[in-house]
Order: sequence, then structure tokens, then C-alpha cells
Amino acid sequence: MPPIPHRAVVALQNPGTEDFCIVPPQEATVSAFDRSFHFGDSLYEVVRTYAGIPFALADHLARLKASARHADFGALPADDLLLDMVRRSARAFFAQFGNVDVYIRVTVSRGVGDVSIDRRDSGPAYAVVVVKDVPQRPDGIGGPGVHWALVARRRNAPEALDPAMKSGNYLNNVLALAEAQAAGAEDALLLDVHGFATEGTTSNFFAVVDGRVQTAPSDAGILIGVTRAFVLRACVALGVPVDERRFGPDVLWSADELFLSSSTREVQAITRLSGRAIGTGEPGPVTCRVHGEVRAAIARWMAQQHNASLFG
Ligand SMILES: Cc1ncc(COP(=O)(O)O)c(C=O)c1O
Repeated sequence: MPPIPHRAVVALQNPGTEDFCIVPPQEATVSAFDRSFHFGDSLYEVVRTYAGIPFALADHLARLKASARHADFGALPADDLLLDMVRRSARAFFAQFGNVDVYIRVTVSRGVGDVSIDRRDSGPAYAVVVVKDVPQRPDGIGGPGVHWALVARRRNAPEALDPAMKSGNYLNNVLALAEAQAAGAEDALLLDVHGFATEGTTSNFFAVVDGRVQTAPSDAGILIGVTRAFVLRACVALGVPVDERRFGPDVLWSADELFLSSSTREVQAITRLSGRAIGTGEPGPVTCRVHGEVRAAIARWMAQQHNASLFG
């Protein structure tokens, strides 16, 4: 048996209807004619919960709509339906496995069709929601930090497959991660075709130089991360200057600190790049302050979500 997660609950929409069913992982299958399977022709979002509340879910649904515009997807399943699928699958998970933080993936396939790349040959878009445990990462901010490799593979050019569109077509990222792992690192930093730093395979990327945070601008061929926005606001709150600008390896090698942001990992220090220690080789002071402020912003957001917990 392939290693599908044992602790998972899936909501499967019946294409073309407002119906969905909640199934255990071994029964969660989609058609062999699904376009996501054949062409990566799908969109997705990943949300995590804090105390049973799906964090910044509205921001993720807004980005799903932006991805749909990029991909000329036509009608998505209605927000109410997606919210209902998220709520019911998360509640089913909590009922079965207890009240823990979960990872929620909302995938919308363009539909099933005749194994033709012509999108006009496909049925209506439909959603699949997967709920499972949030991956545990022992190498968090208090730990030694993560090791990234600057890989040879370049991030997709926006003119080819815009990384701002969160599609199921992740082969660029899959192969970059494999390259990083072959080099003994945990994740990859990708440059764009012009040699400017973009992002990691599943996270945004920041460098700290002389107390200033540098990050690729949102039109540079990156995913415009929900957590990235929290990082930028945290910098403003802390009085840490931010330069959204293009920069190359010269900045990387002279940086005092590097860090990443993502929904499941929040803010994490990158303490080694391609085997070289960054700064002191420990999470640096700006990274720690940004992480603390992002956590505080998450706590403030949570405090405003009255009765929103899906815990039973
Ligand atoms: C390529 C890429 N960049 C950045 C991110 C971080 O985005 P967010 O903060 O919205 O999770 C992700 C998340 O999956 C990603 O896949």
C-alpha cells in the first residue's frame, strides 16, 4: 500500500452538484479521467488551523479566485460549498482523532474529461478537501534552523506558468526539492531565469542585510503568500525596513540572516545555504522578532474570531 496518511478525512464533491461526501483516506479516490491527474490542471490552497479555527481562510479563498482568473478556470465551486466542505471534514477529523491542529488542503480540479488537453472537453470544476495533521517540524525557530540549497533549476517564468497562480502543476517545485535533497539540504531556493532570488518550493523567502529585510516583489514570479503579507506587516509594526526588490546571489552570500514564511511553518530561520552557515549559523535577531510579531498577529486575529472554532 502507498503511504497515504492514516489520520485523514476527505470531502469529495460530486462534480456538477452541490453534494459531497466525507470519506476515510482509503476510500478517497477521483476519476482516472480527472484533468488534474493528467495535466496538473487544478488549483489549490493550504490552510492550517489554530485551536480549531482555519487561519485566514478568507484570504486563501480570495487567492483561489485569483488563481482561477490566471488559469481562465471559469466558475469555481461556490464559497459556501467550499466552506461547508472544510467545516464538515475538519469536524469529522476532530471527532475521530481529537482536537489537534490540522492541515486543510482545498483542491479544485478543472474537471473530468476525454484525456484531451482542450479544456473545453472537460466537465465542471469540482473540489476535494483533505484534512490531516499539520506536519510537525522539530527544526522550528527555537531550533537550529533549516538548511536550504541554491539549486540550478530556475523558477517558472511568469510568462510561461505564473508562480502567482497556485496550481496543481508543481513539477517545477518537485524537481527543485529533489535537487536540494540530493545536495543534502531540506529545501531549495530557486532563482528566476534572470538570476534573481524568488522563493522556496513551498514558501516565500527573505534575506536580512544590515537590518533591512529584502524580498522579491510580488510581480517577480512568486506565489504571493498569505504569510508573506503577515511578515511584511510585522516588519512595519517592528520598524524594520523592507525592500521589495530583485536581488541575486551576491546578497545571499553576504546576508546576515535568511528566513522563510508559509502557512504551515509560519516563519523559520534558514541557517545554512548550500552547506554554508548564514550569519552566526543560528536564527538571527530580526528573524526571531519577525516570528514573534507574526505569532502575535495570529493571536490577535484569533481573538476576533468569536465562536469560529470547529472543535467539538
Ligand atoms: C511556491 C510557494 N510559495 C510560497 C508559499 C507560501 O504561501 P502561504 O504563506 O500562503 O502559505 C507556498 C505555500 O504553499 C508555496 O507553495
